[in-house]
Amino acid sequence: MSTRAKLEYLREKSQEIELGGGCKAVEKQHERGKYTARERLRMLFDEDTFSELDKFVKHRCVNFGMEKMEAPGEGVVTGYGTIDGRLVYAFAQDFTVVGGSLGEMHAKKICKLLDLALKMGAPCIGLNDSGGARIQEAVDALSGYGEIFYRNTISSGVIPQISVIMGPCAGGAVYSPALTDFIFMVKNTSQMFITGPQVIKAVTGEEVSAEKLGGAMTHNSVSGVAHFVADNEEECIAQIRSLLSYIPNNNLEESPVYENGDDTERQDETLNDLVPDNPNAPYDIKEVIEKFADNGEIFEVQPYYAQNIITAFIRLNGRSIAVIANQPKFMAGCIDINASDKSARFIRFCDAFNIPLLNVVDVPGSLPGTNQEFGGIIRHGAKMLYAYSEATVPKVTLVVRKAYGGAYLAMCSRDLGADQVIAWPTAEIAVMGASGAANIIFRKEIESAENKEAKRGEVIKQYEERFATPYVAAERGFVDMVIEPAVTRPVLINAFEMLATKRETRPVKKHGNIPL
Ligand code: HXC
Repeated sequence: MSTRAKLEYLREKSQEIELGGGCKAVEKQHERGKYTARERLRMLFDEDTFSELDKFVKHRCVNFGMEKMEAPGEGVVTGYGTIDGRLVYAFAQDFTVVGGSLGEMHAKKICKLLDLALKMGAPCIGLNDSGGARIQEAVDALSGYGEIFYRNTISSGVIPQISVIMGPCAGGAVYSPALTDFIFMVKNTSQMFITGPQVIKAVTGEEVSAEKLGGAMTHNSVSGVAHFVADNEEECIAQIRSLLSYIPNNNLEESPVYENGDDTERQDETLNDLVPDNPNAPYDIKEVIEKFADNGEIFEVQPYYAQNIITAFIRLNGRSIAVIANQPKFMAGCIDINASDKSARFIRFCDAFNIPLLNVVDVPGSLPGTNQEFGGIIRHGAKMLYAYSEATVPKVTLVVRKAYGGAYLAMCSRDLGADQVIAWPTAEIAVMGASGAANIIFRKEIESAENKEAKRGEVIKQYEERFATPYVAAERGFVDMVIEPAVTRPVLINAFEMLATKRETRPVKKHGNIPL
């Protein structure tokens, strides 16, 4: 073959592989409102930066006619490029090729990519769109999944791993995304489940649609499996790029700093009036966060799940900060099982990747009820205590209103290692709310009083004046500063600047035993 002919062969072969499952299959993919694997990667990476690896990899299965079946690219496109100028690895399963099913060589391509990402210390993004284990490849396919799960686990806490569900993701295939740090889903086109609607119907008799069972909103609002939801793939990819802007490439780096021009000394008088006089009145804690964050921007993680607690990224003076905030608008901001799981996982991600924590506290306690107790709130709530205590990143706690009982500790009090505890004058740091407390400790006085209600009101007021303030905690040094709310932004920026060089070590151990 002449050199020219060899070049021609390369071009033709490349083009053929890039067509994936062919024009018809691509058309079908588009008709479903889905892009192809290569189109998705083009959207994800900075223009013309994607380098494809292993384009010529072939399967070697000879079962059930597979020896005659071509599977261009083995049903997955893998490679690397830059996002916002930073190195990122990604794979995209190609549903147009044997339904994006995962066989031995498909898995090997993904594993090679994960190995590279780990060695180079760069994030790995998986775009999932697959019918699952390639049935013809039997145990080789299962082994492929096992190798991926193993690498997901070994890389956990070293490089950020992001899973994007852009089609079916069923059976054991769901566990690779579940082992990664964040899951993105697209409404109406992505589904995750262990057993599909037909199996459920056969086994339990329940009838449920695929979307209801494992669609984007189910996993974003009910199960808590997913972290982000988008209306379409373009929006989903924009969300991924935003997330990456807040996180570092690996556990030895810091998040990128984005100068954004917002004045570090900016004060906001409206914060002084944001907490209502009535301690039981709800308000939106997001408004508080918006007022001190750079340019009022909040990037929420799991915004539809356990809405009684907010987990989000913001920037202060251009630096990435993780916020964990009770939300009085939902369930009065109580801590329940789901809020504990949501926040503990977020805290551990941020600690692993050097992102400082800001804890904004307005919490009346844990949610009471048999559901919570039977569901193991003790075990789940302990995750927050564990995650905060274990975290060695800078930890700043801002108490804006209630900080009662165990929930006060669970939101990272001084005792759990908060480096700075700042309180607004509206803070109430106590064992419990005034009326509950007064009813217990003054029970005899109330019962023996002629006018019980008047007495009750009087002792509640007494308790409030003594304990429903930040000053008892400040007298003992549990609170470092009581500040006027208007100056929150400059005070927080100052605190995090001061803590930037924090170094804290823990005893050497294999790993701890978080109450799972
Ligand atoms: C081999 C597969 C496949 C698979 C799809 N295809 N899934 N081939 N192994 N797992 C092929 C189809 O045969 C078809 O080939 C092409 O991909 C497109 O699939 P369609 O069925 O035409 O597409 P659609 O109607 O959109 O349905 C998509 C689907 C369905 C819902 C995903 O294909 C499906 O139910 N697939 C099987 C899902 C499954 O049970 N997977 C195994 C799960 S167990 P042709 O040649 O006709 O175009 C598992 C265990 C993992 O994954 C365990 C890890 C621990």
